[in-house]
Amino acid sequence: MKSFSDLGISAPILKAVAEMGFQTPTEVQSKAIPHALNREDLIVTSKTGSGKTAVFGVPMLQMTNPKESGPQALILAPTRELAVQLDGELKLISKYLPHRTTVVYGQHSLHAETESLKKGVSIVTGTPGRVLDHVKRGNLVTKHIRFLVIDEADRMLDLGFIDQVVRIIKTLPRNRVTLLFSATIPPEVSRVCKNYMRNPTNIVIESPTKTVDIIEQVYYRVNGNEKRSQLNRLLLVEQPDSCLIFCNTRIAVDQVCSFLAGKGYAVQALHGDIPQGRRMQTIRQFKQGKFHLLVATDVAARGLHIDDLSLVINYDVPMEKDSYVHRIGRTGRAGQRGRAATFVTGEDIMSLYEIEEHIGALIPEADLPSESVLNSRRASAEQWIRAKRQTTRSTKASSRSSSKRTPKTHTPNKSRQPKQERSPRVSADPQTAIRQRPIPPAEQVKQSQIRDKSVESKKSGGTPPPALKRKTVFERIAKRIFGK
Ligand SMILES: Nc1ncnc2c1ncn2[C@@H]1O[C@H](COP(=O)(O)OP(=O)(O)OP(=O)(O)O)[C@@H](O)[C@H]1O
Ligand SMILES: [Mg+2]
Repeated sequence: MKSFSDLGISAPILKAVAEMGFQTPTEVQSKAIPHALNREDLIVTSKTGSGKTAVFGVPMLQMTNPKESGPQALILAPTRELAVQLDGELKLISKYLPHRTTVVYGQHSLHAETESLKKGVSIVTGTPGRVLDHVKRGNLVTKHIRFLVIDEADRMLDLGFIDQVVRIIKTLPRNRVTLLFSATIPPEVSRVCKNYMRNPTNIVIESPTKTVDIIEQVYYRVNGNEKRSQLNRLLLVEQPDSCLIFCNTRIAVDQVCSFLAGKGYAVQALHGDIPQGRRMQTIRQFKQGKFHLLVATDVAARGLHIDDLSLVINYDVPMEKDSYVHRIGRTGRAGQRGRAATFVTGEDIMSLYEIEEHIGALIPEADLPSESVLNSRRASAEQWIRAKRQTTRSTKASSRSSSKRTPKTHTPNKSRQPKQERSPRVSADPQTAIRQRPIPPAEQVKQSQIRDKSVESKKSGGTPPPALKRKTVFERIAKRIFGK
């Protein structure tokens, strides 16, 4: 197995990635980084959570020179939250380099972004609309750009973005390296990409399935009018440490979020109608574990990394098949275990079959929690909800009191190094590492109380929650045919 130093990476970057908790390169990193360092155009397809960000982050930082005029590299991403996350990752990787990087995105202060661009940066990350805006205003000079990265390339080259992306590309020097990334790149998108690339090398990390194998997937048959109550029951039984719930529309997100807030959960909503400042705060607090349920549209489906996200629920079956892959890929990242549950109504069943065919795996049906399972979990569920609410209240109070005093600096993400600390059972190899079963509710309560005192603690194992009864493939087919 290759080490990072075998890949030709410079010492300051090796030191930074080691501090980020990266011990060995993932498969896609081992395979693609040498090509990128060789200045080849690349189309990289590799599963969610497999470490694609470092595949472009590391070579770009290594091959740009902060003493020369910039920006020398541009990264395009489909959502503002992802753009901010990518810039955050670059800042971590460049901790021991003199590079300056910045991020530009819609509904953010144009003035602050312009000032930051004027100071001189090596790498700019942004959403296409805002990048184009800065190019037109002359704030972002593109003539020195030698590297272009399009993350979530299939999304960026679909109808919603392609015009803006092409307009940006037309302003860039032809003599540049272009790198494309996604967990899903359909052949037709690959064909379109090639119009803007020079002899690209395709790097595909092959797998019979599109989804991450260590994500435990199930679906539940529900009636459309009982989705909310079934969601509540499922949460009471599962008691996830943190959970992302996807709905197809902004209205549904708001409705589900209000319903769960009414039940006492620490829950927030994320969608395109929410002001950007609040969106950023929501995602930041969710990443910090300050509340445990996030209800979102597909705006949260691409690229976002939330440490220790244990459960994804598709409250609605996604409209696009690849959305399923990206949504559930918010869990089960970097070798950690994850669970994904999908609510399927009678109308959705054909869409589910299409998703199964598309991802190359059969998603087992599970029975919804029975009354007796629910009753056996009620006491611990109440404790779990209360503990999470306490965490939210105390962190809100402490962040309010400290926000004025602490300047916003980019320190290494706490979750990086403690990664080994917080998950001592994760093996060194992120391709093969597997976490143990979810933490039992009693332990979760204890942990939440500990976090109230702002002390990081190690997770410990214990008895898993009672497993929900799984249906065999035979039972499922019989049910599909005979309806029972
Ligand atoms: N070599 C490594 N060792 C350990 N952790 C790693 C390594 N490389 C990346 N990671 C971590 O794995 C997580 C997932 O990485 P990243 O976000 O780059 O995945 P991705 O392939 O871009 O996923 P997606 O398709 O969802 O965008 C991040 O927390 C990242 O810091
Ligand atoms: Mg990514």
